[in-house]
Amino acid sequence: MEQSDFYELNDGAKLPAIGLGTVNIQGAKGVNSVLTAIDAGYRLIDTSTNYMNEGMVGEAIRRSTVPREELIISSKLPGAAHDYDKAITMIQESLYRLGIDYFDKYLIHWPLPMQGKYVEAWQALIDAQKFGLIKTIGVSNFLEEHLEKIIDKTGVTPATNQIERHPYFNNNEVVETNKKLGILTEAWSPFGREINDVIEHETIAKIAKKYDKTPTQVIIRWNLQNDVMPIVKSSSLKHQKANLNVFNFELTQEDIQTIDLLDKGEPGRVEGQHPNEYEEFG
Ligand SMILES: NC(=O)c1ccc[n+]([C@@H]2O[C@H](COP(=O)([O-])OP(=O)(O)OC[C@H]3O[C@@H](n4cnc5c(N)ncnc54)[C@H](OP(=O)(O)O)[C@@H]3O)[C@@H](O)[C@H]2O)c1
Repeated sequence: MEQSDFYELNDGAKLPAIGLGTVNIQGAKGVNSVLTAIDAGYRLIDTSTNYMNEGMVGEAIRRSTVPREELIISSKLPGAAHDYDKAITMIQESLYRLGIDYFDKYLIHWPLPMQGKYVEAWQALIDAQKFGLIKTIGVSNFLEEHLEKIIDKTGVTPATNQIERHPYFNNNEVVETNKKLGILTEAWSPFGREINDVIEHETIAKIAKKYDKTPTQVIIRWNLQNDVMPIVKSSSLKHQKANLNVFNFELTQEDIQTIDLLDKGEPGRVEGQHPNEYEEFG
């Protein structure tokens, strides 16, 4: 995959190879980080009502010299707004906070099966798309059973499913389910979040050395070569640039399999983030 290449979604939309994550990037510092990232070449910005930074992303959009229509702005519906009417209102309020009049992409953040309203939330996204508030609709943290239920009840397949995926928890089963259903996988916490030693793992370091690349570049490449879009967060310009410098080398199938073998199964998952158990607070 080249930097100029796009993923073509099942709704005909196109997304860039790599997205910018924004968890914990807020306020004036956050605006600067997003602006440097846009300058570095990022075009897809991943935010969420839960990140309490939609206002900051909106400010960066306004200050950027890159035209709005060249940016892909993506946010997520919080669990407290899975009721149909609340969801429609939440989407409008998020747009007001950002100061934009449509989302390029919008996801249900978590299925919250214990609450049991994600089909209703999905119907709201389908209608918000019809109203012109959202271009592409998708989900996040959905397992096969959740995907099948919303497709069965509404007839509409999500365009993307954003899931936890890093070398310690590669989530290949859900990646395969997504592929089977024609859904693009987006990988969150590609560097493992709290379990950050994933980027210090000797196997990844060894592969990185072979290509004169860094471990994060190898992990990004491992995603791209699996047709998975990594959502990568960095607040430093140096890292932002490095994380885009991944289009001049190619991992072998053997490298990919070696990284796949680092998977630890359930214990590798970020603690408390199983989609059937995760509860949103606040
Ligand atoms: N849908 C969901 O439920 C969900 C859940 C979690 C996250 N997400 C999304 O996914 C995004 C990414 O996940 P994440 O924020 O958890 O973490 P991440 O992207 O896996 O890792 C971010 C960490 O890696 C460091 N880093 C980045 N580039 C680096 C480089 N080249 N060299 C060394 N260190 C580097 C960053 O530090 P510096 O800032 O210093 O570079 C930061 O500490 C989030 O921001 C969010 O948008 C979605």
